[in-house]
Amino acid sequence: MLRQSEARDRPALIELFASPEVGTHIGGAQPRDELERTVPEVPGRRPGFFVVELDGATIGMITFDRRVADAPGPVRPDAGEAWLGYLFLPEAWGRGYAAEACEAALSWFADALPGEPVVLCTQAANDRAMRLAAKLGFTEVERFEAFGAEQWFGERVWSAAPTRSRAAVSDIPEVLFVCVHNAGRSQMAAALLQHHGMGRIAVRSAGSEPAEEVNPAAAAALAEWGLDITAEVPSKLTTEDVEASDVVITMGCGDTCPVFPGKRYLDWQLDDPAGQGIDAVRPIRDDIDRRVRGLVAELLD
Ligand SMILES: CC(C)(COP(=O)(O)OP(=O)(O)OC[C@H]1O[C@@H](n2cnc3c(N)ncnc32)[C@H](O)[C@@H]1OP(=O)(O)O)[C@@H](O)C(=O)NCCC(=O)NCCS
Repeated sequence: MLRQSEARDRPALIELFASPEVGTHIGGAQPRDELERTVPEVPGRRPGFFVVELDGATIGMITFDRRVADAPGPVRPDAGEAWLGYLFLPEAWGRGYAAEACEAALSWFADALPGEPVVLCTQAANDRAMRLAAKLGFTEVERFEAFGAEQWFGERVWSAAPTRSRAAVSDIPEVLFVCVHNAGRSQMAAALLQHHGMGRIAVRSAGSEPAEEVNPAAAAALAEWGLDITAEVPSKLTTEDVEASDVVITMGCGDTCPVFPGKRYLDWQLDDPAGQGIDAVRPIRDDIDRRVRGLVAELLD
């Protein structure tokens, strides 16, 4: 099972970074006493960080990070791709657990951010990591020298999506955005939350009276940030949508949104982009973006 980290994962994560076998592949083990001093009480509490649990024991971790432009490896104009990392305790190696957990993480990522590539980098001499990368559908982009060793840089594109895994993904917050037409505000919010959530949050949007198509000015404002919502189709709000969500964020649909106990309801007061040009929509986009970033921090930290 994949889940967010908790305080009880601390010993296993310290073990992971102190392990000489793991260290061989990641530039050296870290001194245990230093880890004991520096690892936070709840380690790895950040977007993109999963622990892998098997029968109640923490056996490894999987990370997705946005790749920074000056990271070693190919210089790509689209730096910022999701970067996959995997580290498992040696006693869990050789049993297929890493493959199963990574497949679960990747298939969930692909559902949340369809079409977004995922990259990974490992030492070319790291046979296990290379076999795992191939099993997961990564193909070589290039090899390069860094950190005193040959590095392998691979990419997994959407068409190579692995089949859905048996492993369960739990504790994923589900967020539903609702506005009247599901054409502007809720579409922008959903796209921004998918982007910033990096697959850590399940996102839906719907409208009480869905429009025929997405608002072109909203699509243009997001296109300026490299996000494409032109293929989205406004959809009618259903009771099931609300039932399936943990957080329901309304944006001007008032009391047409059904209310269930146990859900968290928020109402974001936003200007309506309907009928407005891109100059008027940009500040609405920026406002939604600020709120979405705050929501990501709140849900995942
Ligand atoms: C990289 C790493 C995660 C790979 O772990 P792994 O256990 O070898 O990977 P898998 O889960 O794919 O297991 C594959 C092995 O399990 C075996 N296996 C046994 N039972 C299995 C089952 N039921 N299903 C699938 N495979 C099974 C496979 O035959 C395969 O064995 P082989 O490697 O001898 O061919 C692990 O070695 C690791 O954490 N290394 C240190 C950190 C690291 O190097 N990270 C990468 C840096 S980016």
